[in-house]
Amino acid sequence: MKTIDELLAEGVEGKRVFVRADLNVPLADGTITDDGRIRAVLPTVTKLAEAGAKVIVASHLGRPKGAPDPQFSLSPAAERLGELLGKPVAFAQDTVGPAAHGAVDGLESGQVAVIENLRFNAGETSKDDTERGEFADKLAALADVYVGDGFGAVHRKHASVFDLPARLPHYAGYLIATEVGVLKKLTEDVKRPYVVALGGAKVSDKLDVIDQLLGKADRLLIGGGMAYTFLKAQGHEVGISLLQEDQVPKVKEYIKRAQDNGVELVLPVDVLVSTEFPDLKTKAPANPTTVAADAIPADQEGLDIGPETRKLYASKLADAATVFWNGPMGVFEHPDYAEGTKAVAQALLDSPAFTVVGGGDSAAAVRTLGFDETAFGHISTGGGASLEYLEGKTLPGLAALEN
Ligand code: 3PG
Repeated sequence: MKTIDELLAEGVEGKRVFVRADLNVPLADGTITDDGRIRAVLPTVTKLAEAGAKVIVASHLGRPKGAPDPQFSLSPAAERLGELLGKPVAFAQDTVGPAAHGAVDGLESGQVAVIENLRFNAGETSKDDTERGEFADKLAALADVYVGDGFGAVHRKHASVFDLPARLPHYAGYLIATEVGVLKKLTEDVKRPYVVALGGAKVSDKLDVIDQLLGKADRLLIGGGMAYTFLKAQGHEVGISLLQEDQVPKVKEYIKRAQDNGVELVLPVDVLVSTEFPDLKTKAPANPTTVAADAIPADQEGLDIGPETRKLYASKLADAATVFWNGPMGVFEHPDYAEGTKAVAQALLDSPAFTVVGGGDSAAAVRTLGFDETAFGHISTGGGASLEYLEGKTLPGLAALEN
């Protein structure tokens, strides 16, 4: 994989450089609530601009349906990028049309433009190679060079991630280089004990990674909504908690494999429950009660790990040499259910281990719960991407940069 440093050594003065970033940031009423992904691409954009490139930044945001949809405009992200760079950033209101060409043609060396959400064009995400290829051809016409730096999207076989690099000289940006370097430490020669904390709503999203980790990790801590499918698989009733009944047989198989492989599988011993899901808008007090994990009342829903589990998980993380954490332990967006996620984050901070926080919700949780993100070993910008990397899958966006 050629890196941006090689590109800089070759020289970029006056060249149009297409940077595929992941500016898929959370928005609430048009306001960015977590700009971590924008900050993550700054080193690449800054270096290119300083070296005199005409920088074209492109990304997806959300999941629009292949046509313009104002709620998914990249305009707020472009504005924030300009603020963080401390200089004006042009914004084109289309992806490959007259506005994009106008913005790129108007760039002087060292200037930056952002084009509109790539997913406003159906060709970006199409499963049809020809349709994707046609869109990639149009994107290629905007630039001389491609820099892949959208780590959060490298698991997507999309036009700007997979097809475009085949059409231009291509290089990996600083973010992708860093992310891959870190994830390699979890897959090659991992320092033990290797402890993984997995949370999040759905166990079905994590089956493949659990499958891999059962052959790799020393200890697996399970929390979040997915824990209830594990508790059910152990024969406990889970009331009205999130449950994927169809996954119970698979989870039973995993519990058995963990035993056979000597992987310590740790499940909640107590949970916070309530008869209703909390109001995340008003954050009105939810007044949960704490019950043992094997005694969840029939009319109650588990919404966070309980105090005993918090202590247990902290102790299970304390002696780790390597930790990977993906997924919140509870509904952390509500203060009454944030303690479990906070406890895991704090345990990571207290641990001398090499710690990696997998992107998505756990990265957002770390920041919104007020932790100093620089104190963590590495916070990945890619949720799905980091999981698929650990699953050992070939990631289209990385494969495209290798070729
Ligand atoms: C993410 O948020 O994980 C990435 O930006 C990828 O987004 P996607 O799941 O919509 O492809």
